[in-house]
Amino acid sequence: MEKIVSLCKRRGFVFPSSEIYGGLGSSYDYGHYGVLLKDNIKQRWLSAMVQERDDIVALDSSIILHSDVWQASGHVGGFSDPLVDCKFCKKRFRADHLEDSQCGQRPSKRPGEASDCDLTEARHFNLMFETRVGAMEETGVPVYLRPETAQGIFINFKNVAGIARRKPPFGIAQVGKSFRNEITPGNFIFRTLEFEQMEMEFFVPPGEAEEWYRYWVDERYAWHRRYGIRESHLRIRPHEADELSHYSSATSDIEYLFPIGWSELEGVANRGDFDLTAHTNASGTKLEWVEQDGSRYTPHVIEPALGVNRSMLAFLVDAYDEEVVADRDRTVLRLHPQLAPVKAAILPLIGKSDDMTGRARKLYEELRPLISVEYDDGGQIGRRYRRQDEIGTPYALTIDEQTIEDDTITIRERDSLAQERISIARAREHLLDRLAEPWSSPRVDA
Ligand code: GAP
Repeated sequence: MEKIVSLCKRRGFVFPSSEIYGGLGSSYDYGHYGVLLKDNIKQRWLSAMVQERDDIVALDSSIILHSDVWQASGHVGGFSDPLVDCKFCKKRFRADHLEDSQCGQRPSKRPGEASDCDLTEARHFNLMFETRVGAMEETGVPVYLRPETAQGIFINFKNVAGIARRKPPFGIAQVGKSFRNEITPGNFIFRTLEFEQMEMEFFVPPGEAEEWYRYWVDERYAWHRRYGIRESHLRIRPHEADELSHYSSATSDIEYLFPIGWSELEGVANRGDFDLTAHTNASGTKLEWVEQDGSRYTPHVIEPALGVNRSMLAFLVDAYDEEVVADRDRTVLRLHPQLAPVKAAILPLIGKSDDMTGRARKLYEELRPLISVEYDDGGQIGRRYRRQDEIGTPYALTIDEQTIEDDTITIRERDSLAQERISIARAREHLLDRLAEPWSSPRVDA
């Protein structure tokens, strides 16, 4: 994990939040390439969920909802972690993660291990961040920052079903920020206080729930594979009965082999009619489906839920590679080209040659409205290639002496390092064709 954290900071993907004030635990800021990578992940998810299908529509609901939403959903009463306090070092730990935690003493020990440790009984703390609507501290109404995007979808079921001209089975997809007051052992962006979720609630006739649940587990597994996650680093783990959330009759985690071990990447849950029934009972608005013949039922819900930031971490871990090429170390991010923050670097071989820089800038201007490209004429060409390798740029287009003579350029491929000469006039078409090709990781699948 240290190598990923270091590359992310060095190359401007992710920075520790509030760093100049000493940092804030479990909070991170995303730099230029981090923003581009996250955006590409969200676009690929939305494309698979909405653009490439006929049965799912998009939604963007508020982060702050009526507080009754969270009463009805069970989050006010039940969304909590068991925590213990150490009266000696004054630190707080998750009771179920004591094995992975370090206490405040030096040299650091597991909480409870040192003779001075004085741990309290475990107590439940709600994970929702509470705030107030209204300027006055005393009169403002308490509300919560949403801990999941899902509830915004359930409470809009009637609005969307009414205008989407779709009948179950159909889904509503949403991407947005969620917030949880988590005590975490600090695994980079794996678990943070605020994060983005990509959630889709798929509403189905009750008799079809089991079939759609299995469909979505397979479909979501295939999405991670489609964008390059290696098969040997991905697995499906059905939850045991005692692990299920209060709303779920069946859940499977799609797990990734993170540096911290196999851990949840995405959850796919069969939520039954729990949510629509709970909101119907609490609000008095019937959230149900009425058939043409007047018969009615409460749809059951299948929910695939993935964190953008956690997905980004999995893609980074899977892509990170080191190798020795011609006696030199090379660090390379072998990201799927459609996820890579920059698709191509435009590099004049000699930065001081007006002929080369002029042609390179012209090509750059031609490509930049279509795809994310970077122009770089500073420093040795080898160093410029290495910088692009580290941010995962799949192609480098180099303008050299021969370009001046015959209008050809080289296209260098990040993974194989193969170089090919193509005509500058065909560069755009060539690049767009290659970016559209299917891709699988060249890393040894072990
Ligand atoms: N609506 C269901 C739900 O929120 P979850 O398993 O709690 O289920 C879904 O969250 C996904 O959101 C997780 O699989 C993970 O990818 C991401 N996630 C959850 N908590 C997170 C956190 N504190 N930091 C980063 N990602 C998180």
